[in-house]
Amino acid sequence: MSTFKTVRGMRDFLPKEANMMNFITEAARRTARLYGYDEIITPVVESYELLAAKAGEEVRLRMYAFKDLGNRAVALRPEFTPSVARLVATVLKNEPKPIRIFCTGSLYRYDEPQRGRFREFWQSDFELIGSDRPEADAEVLMLTDDLMHAAGLKNCMFKVGHVGILRGVMSQEGLEEKTQNSIMQLMDKKEYAEALNLLGTAGASEKCTQTIGRLVRIRGAKISETLKKMREYIENYYKAAAALENLTEILKLVKNSGSEISLIVDAGFARGLEYYTGMIYEVNVPELDVALGGGGRYDKLVELFGGEPTPAVGVAHGTDRIMLATHEQNVSSSEWNENRIMVIPVKEELAAKALEIVRMLRKANLCVEVEVMRRKINKALEDADRRRMSYAVIVGEKELKVGSVAVRNLTKREQKIVKIKDIVEELKG
Ligand code: HAM
Repeated sequence: MSTFKTVRGMRDFLPKEANMMNFITEAARRTARLYGYDEIITPVVESYELLAAKAGEEVRLRMYAFKDLGNRAVALRPEFTPSVARLVATVLKNEPKPIRIFCTGSLYRYDEPQRGRFREFWQSDFELIGSDRPEADAEVLMLTDDLMHAAGLKNCMFKVGHVGILRGVMSQEGLEEKTQNSIMQLMDKKEYAEALNLLGTAGASEKCTQTIGRLVRIRGAKISETLKKMREYIENYYKAAAALENLTEILKLVKNSGSEISLIVDAGFARGLEYYTGMIYEVNVPELDVALGGGGRYDKLVELFGGEPTPAVGVAHGTDRIMLATHEQNVSSSEWNENRIMVIPVKEELAAKALEIVRMLRKANLCVEVEVMRRKINKALEDADRRRMSYAVIVGEKELKVGSVAVRNLTKREQKIVKIKDIVEELKG
C-alpha cells in the first residue's frame, strides 16, 4: 500500500498546535460567557439550499457539496450563520429576544490553500438576534476586541463599513438586487474599476457611477472627518444617508463607552457573504494580510428561512488565523502550559503505591503522568526532562517507610523529601 498523507488543504494538529487551538477556543468560550452568549452545537452537514441561499458566489462555488446516500443535496458547512438563522426561524422562534448564541467548530471551504487559508478551518461564532439597535452592533465589535486581547494579541485594527450605503445608492437608482450583488462581489475583491464598469453596463446613471466611484475612495482613521466626507457625497440618497447615520451612531456608542478599539472607516468596504444589510467589519493585525474575524448585520436572513422578520448581527473569528497571529506576535505560551508532573516508582512492587499517589494528585487537579515503561529511575528522569515536565515524584522504599516520597524540581534541579500528605501543597506552591 502507498504511504498516506493528509488530503490537500487538510491538516493534522500535533499536541503543541492542538494546545494553542484549544487555548484560543477557550478564550472565545470565556468571552461568550462574559457577554452572555449560550453555546449550541449544530451539524457539520446541512442542506445545500440552506447554506447556498445567501452565501454569495465566492463561498457558494467553494462548498463541499454532494448528494448523500438518500439522494439529498447537502454540503459541509462553510460557516455557522445559516444554521443559527435556521434555528431562530424554527425551533427557537418563540424564544424571548434578544437571543445570544455562541458556536465553535470546523468549517469547510474549497479555498486555494495558502498562509492563513485552509480547506478545513475553525471559527468561534457569535450571533446576537432580535435587536436592530446600534447597541447590538457596538456589542459585537467590542466583543471581538475583547476576544483578540484574551488571545494575547496586540495592535488589532478594525475595518468598518456599511452595506446600506452602497446598496442605498444603487437601489435608489433602480438597480436590481442581483446586479447589486455582483457589484458587491467585485468590490469585496477590491476590483473597483470592474465594479464601476458593471454599474455602467447595468444602466446606472452617470451620477450613480460617479457617487459610487467617489465613495470607494474614502477611507480613514479620523472617524468624524471620514463620515463627514461620505455624508457630502450621498446627500440626495435618503436610504444611503439613513445607513450612514446608523453607522455614525454605532461608532459613537463604541467611542463613548471608553473602548479603545482602533478602527478605520472604509466606504467602499464590501464582504462576500450576501446576507449583510447593515454595518460590516473585519479585524486584522499588521503581521498578517488576511482577516482574523469578520461579521456584520443581517436583518433579512431569518425571514428568508421562514421565520418572523428578525434583525440580527454577528461575527465569526478564525481560530487558525488567530493562532498564526499569536505565533507572529510571539505571544507567550506560558499561560497555557500547566505544570506537568511525573510519578516514578523505583521498582515494580511500588507501582500500586505510585498509582495511589497519582490518584490523589489528580483529585487535587494536578496534571500527572505515571511511568509505565518500567524504566530505571535515571532513564525515567531523563525522559521526564526531555518532555519538559516540571516535577518528578519518586516513590522509593526507604522514604515510604516514613510516609514520604522524594519530590524533584526538574527546572531547578533540586530534590527534597516530602510527607505524602504534604505533596499537593508542595507541588501547588
Ligand atoms: P467570513 O468572513 O467568511 O464570515 O469568515 C470569518 C472568519 O473565518 C474570517 O475572518 C477568517 O478568520 C476565518 N476564515 C474564513 N475562511 C477561512 C479559510 N479558508 N481558512 C482559514 N480561516 C478562514 C463568516 O463566516 C460569517 N458567518 C461571519 C458572521 C457571523 N457574520 C454574521 N455572523
